[in-house]
Amino acid sequence: IYQLPFAENEPVNSYAPGTPERQQLKDALKKARSKQVDVPMYIGAEEVKTGNKKPLNPPHDHQHVLGYFHEGDASHVEQAIKAALAAKEKWANLSWEHRAAIFLKAADLIAGPFRNEINAATMLGQSKSAYQAEIDSACELVDFLRYNVQFMSEIYSEQPESSAGMWNRTEYRPLEGFVFAITPFNFTAIAGNLPSSAALMGNTVVWKAAYTQIYAADVIMRVFKAAGLPDGVINLVHVSGPDAGEVVFKHPDFAGLHFTGSTGVFKHLWKTIGENIDIYKSYPRIVGETGGKDFIVAHHTAHARDVATAIVRGAFEYQGQKCSAASRVYLPDNIAEEVQKLVIEDVKDIKMGGPEDFENFFNAVIDKKSFDKIAGYIEKAKESSTSKIIAGGEYDDSKGYFIQPTVILTEDPQFITMKEEIFGPVVTLYVYKQENFEETLTLVDETSPYALTGAIFSNDRYIIELATKKLSNAAGNFYINDKPTGAVVGQQPFGGARGSGTNDKAGSKLNLLRWVSARTIKETF
Ligand code: SER
Repeated sequence: IYQLPFAENEPVNSYAPGTPERQQLKDALKKARSKQVDVPMYIGAEEVKTGNKKPLNPPHDHQHVLGYFHEGDASHVEQAIKAALAAKEKWANLSWEHRAAIFLKAADLIAGPFRNEINAATMLGQSKSAYQAEIDSACELVDFLRYNVQFMSEIYSEQPESSAGMWNRTEYRPLEGFVFAITPFNFTAIAGNLPSSAALMGNTVVWKAAYTQIYAADVIMRVFKAAGLPDGVINLVHVSGPDAGEVVFKHPDFAGLHFTGSTGVFKHLWKTIGENIDIYKSYPRIVGETGGKDFIVAHHTAHARDVATAIVRGAFEYQGQKCSAASRVYLPDNIAEEVQKLVIEDVKDIKMGGPEDFENFFNAVIDKKSFDKIAGYIEKAKESSTSKIIAGGEYDDSKGYFIQPTVILTEDPQFITMKEEIFGPVVTLYVYKQENFEETLTLVDETSPYALTGAIFSNDRYIIELATKKLSNAAGNFYINDKPTGAVVGQQPFGGARGSGTNDKAGSKLNLLRWVSARTIKETF
């Protein structure tokens, strides 16, 4: 009997002025800016360079070139599947302690020698502030890697009862075939977790990262290699969605999809998988975390200051580009004015600019497409007769994709920005009459098709219980007197249902169980 290293959350560096960590991160940023990377695809033992080079640009300084990545096509996806299948038998049969050791080593490399490099890549490539990069690409990714090992060992130790003359046991095998991981731009931690959690359970993986996240994905891949991950276990391809889908979903060995991204794309992939169901050996596992229209509802017993802080942090950290970001707020009329005043004051203090200046809380949105989409919602508010902008509302993409943190006040609880996912720094406030609290809970529940995160603010325990019960299907992660973002691995397993995903809770046993196909063995003596 031996003990695994017990998982603990990686401590967060503050990068406060005067600390050596701050200077080291600044040096890493300078170094990254001063060179140009040449990012390959990783297929089996090969680093594949197609010569079809696409630039990597910081969203806050889009004329600067950080380097290039080599784009592939459908033939590279075929090669990646072949490499994954070729690596499968040895990897699946490697005892779990050895798979665990690789990912624990990867966690230590990220927490240690790669920390500055991966944070700098996330800051430059995805326009994250130092703190937001730290809680993502350093801490959350390290936490995923460490906690997943702990969850895996708990899963493997769960065995059925046996009785006299009989021995029952459960064998936790990986899925038969390969797993396809599709990862988003907004969290480096998610990019690392989706391929590695499936791989930890003995699967081999084809991984497609968002083009806007390849700069940090490359660091993750190099860390996995440095930690001793055998060739072919995770294969990172840079191909368009249609090129990847065309090959992956028509392959008989496709065994599972681990996805984080938009609801529309996920539904499309689900349908494609359904259309091809007859060609697969097994029913593929489909795990997805998709959109959100996350709410804060305040009761008249709530403190205005607490609610205002939750709005500003929940809506504007990382420019609102978290699927968990607060984007619709229901305020009772007794504190609504005070909350608005505080939010407007706070928003005025927010410094916007590139993340290399650590004073900037607020950076650019990810790309031109997002910029245009978000600006479109802001224009809708400007044109509306029921809604008005009370803070922000300006945008400028001349140097970077900058959009001011924007607060809309609406009289219409069905206004478009109360319903649709914006995925940017826009939050809409709606004021209700305090005696209509219960009707407001119904409104919260019924206004959007999503159910990812939400928060209730109140000092009345009966009200907190009422809201928790009435909103039981409205959010997979429900927060009492706190902002609805920032779930910590091992503390708040994360995910939602309805249009927000399959709710398999990233960073939990539930998620890892999706990547095994158990065999029950009964033996009689
Ligand atoms: N897990 C993140 C959060 O809770 C979102 O992906 O904010």
